[in-house]
Amino acid sequence: MPRRLNYRALLLATPGFRGRVANFSLDMSHSPTRKWWQDAVFYQIYPLSFADSDGDGFGDLEGIISRLDYLTDTLGVDAIWLSPFFKSPMADWGYDVSDHTDVDPLFGDLATAKRMIDEIHRRGMRVIIDYLMNHTSIEHQWFSESRSSRDNPKRDWYVWRDPKPDGSEPNNWLSVFGGPAWTLDKETGQYYRHTFLPHQPDLNWRNPEVREAMFDVARFWLDLGVDGFRVDAAHQMMKDPRERDNPPAPEEHTRPWKDMGDYDRYIHLYDFAHPDVHEAHREFRAVLDSYPHDPVSVGEIHIFDLPEWAAYYGEHLDQIHMPFNFHLMVAPWETSSIRAVIETVLWHVPEGGWANWLLGNHDEIRMKTRLGVLNARLAAMLLLTLRGTPFLYYGDELGMPQAEIGSGEGRDPWGENVSYLSRDGCRTPMQWDDTPMAGFSADGSWLPIGPDHVNLNVMAETADEGSMLALYQRLLAYRRSSPVLKEGKYLTHTASTGDVFVFERFTDDDRIIVALNLSDQVQLLDLVEGSIVMSTHSAMGREIGSEGVFLGRREGVIIEVSVP
Ligand code: GLC
Repeated sequence: MPRRLNYRALLLATPGFRGRVANFSLDMSHSPTRKWWQDAVFYQIYPLSFADSDGDGFGDLEGIISRLDYLTDTLGVDAIWLSPFFKSPMADWGYDVSDHTDVDPLFGDLATAKRMIDEIHRRGMRVIIDYLMNHTSIEHQWFSESRSSRDNPKRDWYVWRDPKPDGSEPNNWLSVFGGPAWTLDKETGQYYRHTFLPHQPDLNWRNPEVREAMFDVARFWLDLGVDGFRVDAAHQMMKDPRERDNPPAPEEHTRPWKDMGDYDRYIHLYDFAHPDVHEAHREFRAVLDSYPHDPVSVGEIHIFDLPEWAAYYGEHLDQIHMPFNFHLMVAPWETSSIRAVIETVLWHVPEGGWANWLLGNHDEIRMKTRLGVLNARLAAMLLLTLRGTPFLYYGDELGMPQAEIGSGEGRDPWGENVSYLSRDGCRTPMQWDDTPMAGFSADGSWLPIGPDHVNLNVMAETADEGSMLALYQRLLAYRRSSPVLKEGKYLTHTASTGDVFVFERFTDDDRIIVALNLSDQVQLLDLVEGSIVMSTHSAMGREIGSEGVFLGRREGVIIEVSVP
């Protein structure tokens, strides 16, 4: 007789969920308020590296248009996040905007951007773009005016402060990218603040004129048809109004996700996330909500204190729709940590809010290099079976590793300041085929082409059912056709052991179990019901034997269980 699970008993037995049964109610009817972005899988494109249509070595919008069929027909994703393509002197490769409402000639022009948005929509996908809230380029017209004199009407659009009596910086705050967060403007005798490069002066969000001007930027792109924004540095722009010095960090202190060099010499108590940041996000959300097409916001929130992170949803779910969830990315790849992260993240997402998951982006070491190839396959299965919206990073679906960048070939300004923090290795061109330029460009490339492109490329992997791409295709197709993966509740399964992480997703009508063997030994799981419909090791499903589920080393499986 098939064994049946008592969900309520399991919920109560699961430490993270004790007392939260209400939030995991068994009423699984499809909510009429469910939004498109809750069912979507997003794919991040770093435009400089996706496809170069004019042979100048830099990817561009026309190139993206020419590759859209890959995203729909080959891969099967629902939405795209595009990193910046706005006018920029490229000090931080587009994250330094000199005109928010124009396209940099490197990428094309505004008419091409409009055509790209329409082409994405025509294929049934949605598109969100980067929204650079915290800072502009030093070459932005607003900053030129602001720095021109102390009494310029735009002086207060940026953060200007007098030097200390000895001429030094106003306080000890550091730039994320190295060096002080203040640069002296000799002409006017004051320092301006910059969270990142000196080329990226911070906007003063406490000035209502700045807010209105920035909201107009959002309206411009929403009117052009974009479906929302990924908000850059979303917790950074409000800092301590008293501008107190950060306290020095104890010797062993490092940030949770990576050693940030000198930046880690201080506890960053005062230089980000002052509470009035939430008011700014509420106002921004009101702009989004005034549009009928349900635009979404995803916020870059590098905060690892979960209640503080979750506060960005807003007490009344009136701030960021999905604060980016970096917690899984920084967790050690072990059952106990993965389980703890998933349970605590889902626990902290406020009632009515919606989770998201990612394992890579344009700032991080590529997941294949962080985890190894077999774990990267397990991670793909995890990412695409969890409750919450998955974000994929271009090239991860091919198993592209972090590329080695030779000396003299680097482009990232962070890498120039602190070499081991260079992000170039995760930004090399998309590998379409095995030709010398990997199908990225006819002639040249701004970053080196990964030498592994001969084997790891779209063309070769499409023809190989054992490839990483084939695994992603199967997982994406399965998620797309599976209401339980999109909407179902999450529950850690009691069959989880030290090395095998098992969870289930369930609705009234469906139930699946995902089992991931994180060990190098074959494991036998005491599960005898259902059938294995997918494995990270093979394209074939298989029946479950009477002894239970045998899992190969570092194998993940999806098991469909019939709900009587
Ligand atoms: C964000 C972006 C990063 C950029 C920085 C400054 O962290 O993800 O790429 O360099 O903001 O804009």
